[in-house]
Amino acid sequence: MQAPSISRRNFIKLAGASGMLAGLPATAFAEQKTFSDGFLWGVASSASQVESRQGRGRSNWDDFADQKGRILDGSTNAVNTAFETHYAEDFAMLAAAGVNAFRFSFAWPRIQPDGPGKPNEAGMALYDRIIDEMLSRGMKPAATMCHWDMPTWAGDLRDRDITQRLADYADILTRRFGDRIGLWLALNEPNTVAAAGYALGIHAPGLASMQATGAAVHHQNLAQGLMIAAARANLPKDARVSTTINCQSARPATDSPEDAQAAEMAEAFWNGAWLDPLFGRDYPEKVRALVEPFVKAGDMENIAARPDCLGVNYYARVYAQAAAGSPLGFMPLVDHFPNKLIPTQMLPVEPDGLTEILLRIHTEYGAPDIYVTETGFPLEDPQPVDWVVQDPKRSTYLRSYLQAAHQAVDQGVKLRGVFYWAATDNWEWAMGFTKTFGLIQVDRATQKRTPKASLAYYAKCIKMNGVA
Ligand code: FCB
Repeated sequence: MQAPSISRRNFIKLAGASGMLAGLPATAFAEQKTFSDGFLWGVASSASQVESRQGRGRSNWDDFADQKGRILDGSTNAVNTAFETHYAEDFAMLAAAGVNAFRFSFAWPRIQPDGPGKPNEAGMALYDRIIDEMLSRGMKPAATMCHWDMPTWAGDLRDRDITQRLADYADILTRRFGDRIGLWLALNEPNTVAAAGYALGIHAPGLASMQATGAAVHHQNLAQGLMIAAARANLPKDARVSTTINCQSARPATDSPEDAQAAEMAEAFWNGAWLDPLFGRDYPEKVRALVEPFVKAGDMENIAARPDCLGVNYYARVYAQAAAGSPLGFMPLVDHFPNKLIPTQMLPVEPDGLTEILLRIHTEYGAPDIYVTETGFPLEDPQPVDWVVQDPKRSTYLRSYLQAAHQAVDQGVKLRGVFYWAATDNWEWAMGFTKTFGLIQVDRATQKRTPKASLAYYAKCIKMNGVA
């Protein structure tokens, strides 16, 4: 079937008509609940997962992906969804669904391809066009300054110099784009970077050492603080500057006392090691030995950026098991989960963990404004029929997470927006193209975009500013 003209009405009509919401009762709540005024109904993406390598310098993730055996399906991030030439199509489809915010990341190796100093004008101009197109479609840009990809010339997080390089980069970005972007996030999931890239060796740069992990923790915290300060110096007063942490409560994998201890360590590593110093406290006692060799005088003051809000990524809780010799002091379970949780392609579905973590942040860290900067579901999707990919489970799961978010709001959490991961199917790091999270399907051979029924479901929620 010919793609129908993309209009908001079309989306809503599709959502109501073709059985896309199969299995979802008409009303989720007995009484209709809505989110706050000005709520951001967003979607998320990141440069290294959607942009091609064209026109930018090499990154740590290029180096990693090009090593044999690192990526599950042998793919690389060379082409991805060619976002830099297809963004207008993506935005048109999302805007038709009513999406009013788009989280993207700048590719640092596109801004400074060859070394520190003056930015690459062609790269800057590309982001000018992307941001302007977004704005013209009624979508507020939310920018992550560095979402895991770092230029090869910058080295890695063991080197303290990278903190100043990142601060300089933040200065460049906010000077140029600060007039058009209201929400800035310094880093994305520094906890995942430290764990997967420096302790477990399964992400770039592929290291597995306790010393490297400690450096990655402290240097990312410091970089975040310096980036937030550099950004604030350039941005208008009403801009919001923060960072995004992968916040997950930890649970022991079994009833054993060893796993109980592993879960305590996981708590400290995943949540406390980032949130505590960001909000002005010392590192949690359990991670102090790990970071101590890297902490210098004045660092904790620089890290305590007291952000204007907090970006929270949440998928499911972390289940920790004891593992002697793990540089993390525990091992996260990655392939099987207790409690009969429903598995997706990669992670289980655990909405109540979202209510729990939002409430914890609210009560433990001074009730900051919160944006859920990522949540989403990797599922095996069918081929499109009549211009739509039928993915009713994604809508069901999304509804349960939105309900869970609303339960936190009911208890006082200041939730200001949600960004579904991801806008489009894309390159899922070490998992290559084997996991599909998007609200829009992308044909890898042709780059053709097709909306999924879950985008129409999202459109319904957006229209009522609540949970459909
Ligand atoms: C998060 C990452 C994001 C994406 C999702 C599935 O940890 O921030 O880039 O890979 O997981």
